[in-house]
Amino acid sequence: MDKKVDELRSILKKYGQEHLLNHYETLNETSKKELLNQIELINFELINSLYHSTKKEEKHREDKITPIDYVDKYKLYDDYKHYENIGKKAIKEGKLAAVTMAGGQGTRLGHKGPKGTYDIGLDSHKSLFELLSDNLKEEGKKYGVTIPWFIMTSRENNKETLAFFEKNKYFGYQKDKNIFFFIQGELPMIDTEGKILIGEDGFIKQAADGHGGIYESLVKSEMTKRMKQMGIEWIFIGGVDNCLVKMVDPVLMGIAIDKEVTVACKSVVKANPQEKVGVFCRRNGKPNVIEYSEITEEMAEARDEEGELLYGESHILCNLFRVDAVERMGANPLPYHVAYKKATYRNKEGKLIVPDSPNAYKFEAFLFDAFGEVDDMAILRVKREEEFAPVKNADSAGVDCPRTARELYKKFYHID
Ligand code: UD1
Repeated sequence: MDKKVDELRSILKKYGQEHLLNHYETLNETSKKELLNQIELINFELINSLYHSTKKEEKHREDKITPIDYVDKYKLYDDYKHYENIGKKAIKEGKLAAVTMAGGQGTRLGHKGPKGTYDIGLDSHKSLFELLSDNLKEEGKKYGVTIPWFIMTSRENNKETLAFFEKNKYFGYQKDKNIFFFIQGELPMIDTEGKILIGEDGFIKQAADGHGGIYESLVKSEMTKRMKQMGIEWIFIGGVDNCLVKMVDPVLMGIAIDKEVTVACKSVVKANPQEKVGVFCRRNGKPNVIEYSEITEEMAEARDEEGELLYGESHILCNLFRVDAVERMGANPLPYHVAYKKATYRNKEGKLIVPDSPNAYKFEAFLFDAFGEVDDMAILRVKREEEFAPVKNADSAGVDCPRTARELYKKFYHID
């Protein structure tokens, strides 16, 4: 082990990260091993380039953003049945699975624990996970199949998520037969000097690498391989925090199959130019999403001749992919976006520092940055009141909160 320590010390020196081994001698044998393993897995070149990216202006300022076409689900007329029949056939043949991204913690919501375990306050006290499972089971029944369910967790919440499912008997699903769990990737957090942080536990401070890591995680965890063995050709990837998410949509699937696209996404009309959602667009000609944090006011307000917002198709994290497209996307690294966050850490002397303002960079890849890999995709506009009831914030925020989600849910399911 001493040889390994020496080797790692010289690598750390090269990258100015020697502090990571400062407290090494104080650790027990198991922890020593664990820390060395963690250090070995760090891609220091990547960390270097990510640090430099925090010093640069956002490079996509020069990108050419243009509007993108969509079709309205309720203006398909005769085509509706045509697409629906194609989709229904594929679903009955077991070609569809659902993937739920549940790696995030409910920080904005103020919930301690995996977001999917949150009870939005219905009389039934069902968690978000249970509401999602209800929808999947109900849809499966319509087509005489069980829709396989894949759930992405993060290292932070994996144990708790699994325990929650175990306690709830997997909501009727069978583990490793039709419900599967996989863990998303992580990246070290760094301070404003580019130094990797040591967490409270004495190990490298890592944070989930964003939902863009889903493609690579699906491939690395061999979930895509398993999907193919199960005859699954399409996966619907959605967030855990939309209690009206419709994961099984034959029309969306029929459109994707008929138009021979590898990605088909749902949108809803943006409620107002300032709504905090990403919107679909073309970026340098390729399909993409422009995030709410990135769009200019002028672009957000721009309207066409009919008075509709030019960038008005909201991305609601309801996206359908061909499994082989996911594999291709998993092979190509995505760009990382920087977030400046508060992170508790141990300083060089091992003292615990709890900051009261942001002090560290976290890097996240976004799922939709992979859309540029495809030449085309279909966008289906659906009704907000039927498909979008996000639970993002605490009730005090007044929007996208448990109260608004509960009201939308009750209205849709005619619950008094
Ligand atoms: C997101 C979208 C935005 C969209 C809005 C719709 C991004 C960057 N933006 O915003 O375009 O209009 O939702 O509601 O996603 N997650 C993981 N692992 C991670 C990070 C997130 O599994 O590392 C999951 C969360 O559990 C959640 C979903 O991804 O299910 C959304 O993440 P969140 O960070 O809440 O995105 P928003 O800022 O709300």
